[in-house]
Amino acid sequence: MKLNIAVLPGDGVGPEVTNQAIKVLKAIALEFNHSFLFKEAPVGATAIDQHNNPLPDATLELCKSSDAILFGAIGHPKYDNNPSAKIRPEQGLLKLRKELGLYANIRPVKAYDTLLDKSPLKQHIIEGTDITIYRELTGGIYFGEKHLSEDGNTASDLCEYSKHEIERIAHLAFKSAQSRKRKVTLVDKANVLETSRLWRKVVTDLAKNYPDVTLDFLFVDNAAMQIILNPKQFDVILTENLFGDVISDEASVIGGSIGLLASASVGDKYAMFEPIHGSYPQATDKGIANPVASILSAAMLLEHFELHEEAELIKEGVEKSLKLNITTPDLNTTYDNVSTSKVGDFIADFISNPKDTNIN
Ligand code: IPM
Ligand code: MN
Repeated sequence: MKLNIAVLPGDGVGPEVTNQAIKVLKAIALEFNHSFLFKEAPVGATAIDQHNNPLPDATLELCKSSDAILFGAIGHPKYDNNPSAKIRPEQGLLKLRKELGLYANIRPVKAYDTLLDKSPLKQHIIEGTDITIYRELTGGIYFGEKHLSEDGNTASDLCEYSKHEIERIAHLAFKSAQSRKRKVTLVDKANVLETSRLWRKVVTDLAKNYPDVTLDFLFVDNAAMQIILNPKQFDVILTENLFGDVISDEASVIGGSIGLLASASVGDKYAMFEPIHGSYPQATDKGIANPVASILSAAMLLEHFELHEEAELIKEGVEKSLKLNITTPDLNTTYDNVSTSKVGDFIADFISNPKDTNIN
């Protein structure tokens, strides 16, 4: 298969982890006779530095003319500590999601058997956890009208959802549940929010088309507790933009490190693949950032194009690296932890030679 892949490394550790994903994709291309062409463009703080724009037109154009997008990370402390900055790195990512219509953000959360002791949660609680979060990504409070009063003392962010916005992601969540454990949990705040009541109504109606899938509901405050109290009760979680953002970071604790969580953001036309972690500025260029989230995002990219065998091989390589403790310091407290690029090398070598790769 021939794929044009736009690479948006972004800020902080974004470039170094994305490089490992590219390394792994190149190994796949070689092994399976595919042709992947990578073209890079700036986004986020990096793009503000270069073009005074977190999403330059040329970057957006490259994304639109590519088959898929590999995204690194976004954010820089100089903006985090300056709330009045008008141009912000995050605007680049939000605009990209909106312009490309990437309304569904899919975030798998899994407890790896070999990492059960890395989570601060008890092993018997997390063992066997396998959740997919469907987070709505182009609506809600992130994109509603914003207002700051002239005296600067009052601010508002509007949260708005339409039936159509809810339906299109709900269909994806139910379809995914059909090939999993056939359960969808809608996370909302329907006891307080009108938008949540609309979500419940629309999703309840739509569920009738999926009689083989069980639908249940949780208020987001309770869901936040249940996710760490009993994560195994979940199969597919469906939720709005802001709740999904919060809940997915929380859920990453189950796997032992946020550095493991990959995601796919898909719409009707475009698809982007990115780790859920941020730019981790303190770690930039130190070779300590975990590239696995980015590498697994590359596996999700391949799955998107139905290259299942290829994606599976990447996942096997990742599991093997975890098993052999070929990991960065977020998961490895021993003296011999491995650098970002060494983890990438190991997984790429495994792909080229699955039987022989062993660093023990
Ligand atoms: C994420 C991030 C983004 C979000 C930020 C960087 C705008 O936290 O992808 O989860 O809030 O969606
Ligand atoms: Mn987030």
